[in-house]
Amino acid sequence: MQYRTLGNSGLLVSPICLGTMTFGSPVPEADAVRLIHQAIDLGINFVDTANVYEGYARYLGSPGGVAEEIVGKALRDRRDKMIIATKVGAPVGPGPQERGLSSVHILREVDRSLQRLQTDYIDLYIVHWPDKHVPMETTLEAIDIALRQGKIRNFGMSNHSAWQLCEMLWIAERQGGPRVVSSQIPFSLLRREFEYDLPFCVKHGIGVTPYQALQGGLLTGKYRRGQPPPDGTRAAEKPDWIWKQDDALFDRLEGIEKLAGELGVPVSQYSLSWTLSQPAMTSMVVGVKRLEQIQDAVQAASVTIPAEHFAKLNAICPPAWRQHDPLRG
Ligand SMILES: NC(=O)c1ccc[n+]([C@@H]2O[C@H](COP(=O)([O-])OP(=O)(O)OC[C@H]3O[C@@H](n4cnc5c(N)ncnc54)[C@H](OP(=O)(O)O)[C@@H]3O)[C@@H](O)[C@H]2O)c1
Repeated sequence: MQYRTLGNSGLLVSPICLGTMTFGSPVPEADAVRLIHQAIDLGINFVDTANVYEGYARYLGSPGGVAEEIVGKALRDRRDKMIIATKVGAPVGPGPQERGLSSVHILREVDRSLQRLQTDYIDLYIVHWPDKHVPMETTLEAIDIALRQGKIRNFGMSNHSAWQLCEMLWIAERQGGPRVVSSQIPFSLLRREFEYDLPFCVKHGIGVTPYQALQGGLLTGKYRRGQPPPDGTRAAEKPDWIWKQDDALFDRLEGIEKLAGELGVPVSQYSLSWTLSQPAMTSMVVGVKRLEQIQDAVQAASVTIPAEHFAKLNAICPPAWRQHDPLRG
């Protein structure tokens, strides 16, 4: 396993980070614990969770906590084997203080996460989504307090654009708080909107940990045009968590599959390899249900896409349209 440095954090992480959003259901606790142990055995040293994750049972404002508890149980006797990332900010109840990035919510939730994770520190604490109601200065102050208390070691942001990362870096400089070290964004061959932010992350020492690099399983070849989704897949079990499969999508999927076929690798490994080859990409947060899926993701880290494929992929899955790109005029 070739470990990569996570931004300016100094942490060395595996190029695959174990996602936990499906832990609890459909992946039962015992299986999820086993998957975490198997991931460690394969060299993965990075796990991603969130205070709200509770598998398919999750709804907007549900209390969450299930995935963190599972991670805590799995790592009780092997805490030092994993860099733990968890998140705060999504609603965990209906009340006004049960969501967002205020100091009240952050400082309460960090304690709850620590308890569920059965640890006394979180390696990477991530603000899950932007919160327009709370000044970024306030959020950073709360993060700084948690850091000085030793409850968290590093601070990351998720679903924020480069200009928001930039603002947070300015504030850190102005008020002397911690610098953001990572950015977790949706990114795959099918979803490239954040591509224009990547050079900023390279320049400022922010490691990118993309999520849904398999686009929920669409980029694995398991869904076929004109056929119903196979049993036991996300599209069959939880269709609201995956894109609708229409002809335009299958045109792209079949184009990617043809190129993957030229290399003789599964489309899943080919797609993950493409994402990992993009600037600032450090560790892909991959969701898994079975050991073979972890093994497949690990294999992807050693696939190399030939230079001539990149232009072909751009034709099949064009970069996101941008009204004015100052870099290109
Ligand atoms: N920061 C955020 O806002 C945010 C948002 C979403 C997710 N995340 C993180 O990112 C992680 C991944 O998200 P995700 O699970 O939605 O996306 P994903 O990694 O693109 O998709 C994972 C799903 O694809 C299927 N799969 C994985 N490997 C496969 C393989 N080799 N062959 C065939 N199918 C395979 C599995 O589903 P089936 O077997 O059921 O088909 C698996 O559950 C989450 O667990 C979470 O930690 C973060």
